[in-house]
Amino acid sequence: MQNRVVQLEEGKDNGITVVRTGQYKAFPTKLLLLLGFFLAFAITVFIISVSTIKYTGFQSVVTTVTSSFVPCRDDESNGLSKWIQPPAVLMHNMSDEELLWRASFWPRRKEYPFKRVPKIAFMFLTKGPLPLASLWERFLKGHNGLYSVYLHPHPSFTAKFPANSVFHRRQILSQVAEWGRMSMCDAEKRLLANALLDINNEWFVLVSESCIPLYNFTTIYSYISRSKHSFMGAFDDPGPYGRGRYNGNMEPEVPLTKWRKGSQWFEINRDLAATIVKDTLYYPKFKEFCRPACYVDEHYFPTMLTIEKPAVLANRSITWVDWSRGGPHPATFGRSDITEKFFGRIFDGRNCTYNGRNTSMCYLFARKFAPSALEPLLHIAPKILGF
Ligand SMILES: *[C@@H]1O[C@H](CO)[C@@H](O)[C@H](O)[C@H]1NC(C)=O
Ligand SMILES: *[C@@H]1O[C@H](CO)[C@@H](O)[C@H](O)[C@H]1NC(C)=O
Ligand SMILES: *[C@@H]1O[C@H](CO)[C@@H](O)[C@H](O)[C@H]1NC(C)=O
Ligand SMILES: *[C@@H]1O[C@H](CO)[C@@H](O)[C@H](O)[C@H]1NC(C)=O
Ligand SMILES: *[C@@H]1O[C@H](CO)[C@@H](O)[C@H](O)[C@H]1NC(C)=O
Repeated sequence: MQNRVVQLEEGKDNGITVVRTGQYKAFPTKLLLLLGFFLAFAITVFIISVSTIKYTGFQSVVTTVTSSFVPCRDDESNGLSKWIQPPAVLMHNMSDEELLWRASFWPRRKEYPFKRVPKIAFMFLTKGPLPLASLWERFLKGHNGLYSVYLHPHPSFTAKFPANSVFHRRQILSQVAEWGRMSMCDAEKRLLANALLDINNEWFVLVSESCIPLYNFTTIYSYISRSKHSFMGAFDDPGPYGRGRYNGNMEPEVPLTKWRKGSQWFEINRDLAATIVKDTLYYPKFKEFCRPACYVDEHYFPTMLTIEKPAVLANRSITWVDWSRGGPHPATFGRSDITEKFFGRIFDGRNCTYNGRNTSMCYLFARKFAPSALEPLLHIAPKILGF
């Protein structure tokens, strides 16, 4: 560091000497006075810059010496590991704007220069506690390194899980999310952005506290990882609750023909997650022109992904829900509903396509389950759900 400073000083000195000798011989004496003033000025500037360089040079030496006391951490942060290690602590103090910006960095090269084991990020969008936590614990047990967990509860709630829990310290910085409003999509984006900070997360599953897995982890991992499509519900509903909610002011970014509706509960790959997190084009349109009775969480992601990445969408959700009872909310199932017959209805209820083929395996998750369903679920899971 000191050597470089010295070289800089010498360079400057030589330059000025050359100018002075050249001008002295060429100009008449009357101009010498003017030249004298110029010289005095130049020398002053020179002295000031030299002392500034000496001062900053000294500062640099001091910081170099100080930082050499933590060589290990320094090595790491300059290497690849800082880019491929997930953040050690999930809590940060980034604003949404800062977080979304940070999370929208992604590699443009296709191959990873390290052995990457892709993970499923389970993102829990909840009001507070997780009454079905022990079912999820059992589901995830033994699959370390293949999943990660994120919790976005109401901001007044602090999750307390023991150190051996898969939910331990997985709460992220949250804000109030209201059903049917943009704050709900903001919460989903916040979950996606936090999960994107772990480069090994490849698939992103949004679930709530009332969701359950319908198969063991191996089966779900293989279904998701082998799928050519991401499972975002997206359909064109010509009725009042579909196209009826479209507002012409969204044009030209959002044309009516691309307007879609779908369930909020999705599974998407990393590319789609990044596409959502980076969006600043569609967001203002939906925020301004899709307000209740336009429920933005049913339209924003399905529509913008239909415009941006249609070929990757399966256009169906993998989360089973029962709307058959009618009304604005789907059915909730409690203790007495949990029977083998009930699950038979979920497993054989319909046919759908998977990688272009017909299958009756349409759903990997189901909702909504009340806390009272936990005990019978834990009991029935080994036989019916395979875990
Ligand atoms: C986060 O913390 C750092 C220092 O701890 C502070 O400089 C920064 O302003 C904080 N950012 C926000 C958004 O609070
Ligand atoms: C998961 O379920 C599948 C299908 O039911 C089964 O073949 C497999 O053995 C199960 N895996 C584990 C680890 O239990
Ligand atoms: C889903 O819909 C889009 C258009 O909205 C279409 O391009 C895509 O092929 C559909 N996906 C499947 C799996 O059919
Ligand atoms: C699904 O397909 C199978 C075989 O093609 C058929 O037997 C079954 O009835 C179908 N189920 C439904 C709900 O359509
Ligand atoms: C899948 O099922 C649909 C009807 O549900 C049928 O029209 C189609 O031929 C089937 N495709 C294959 C590949 O079996």
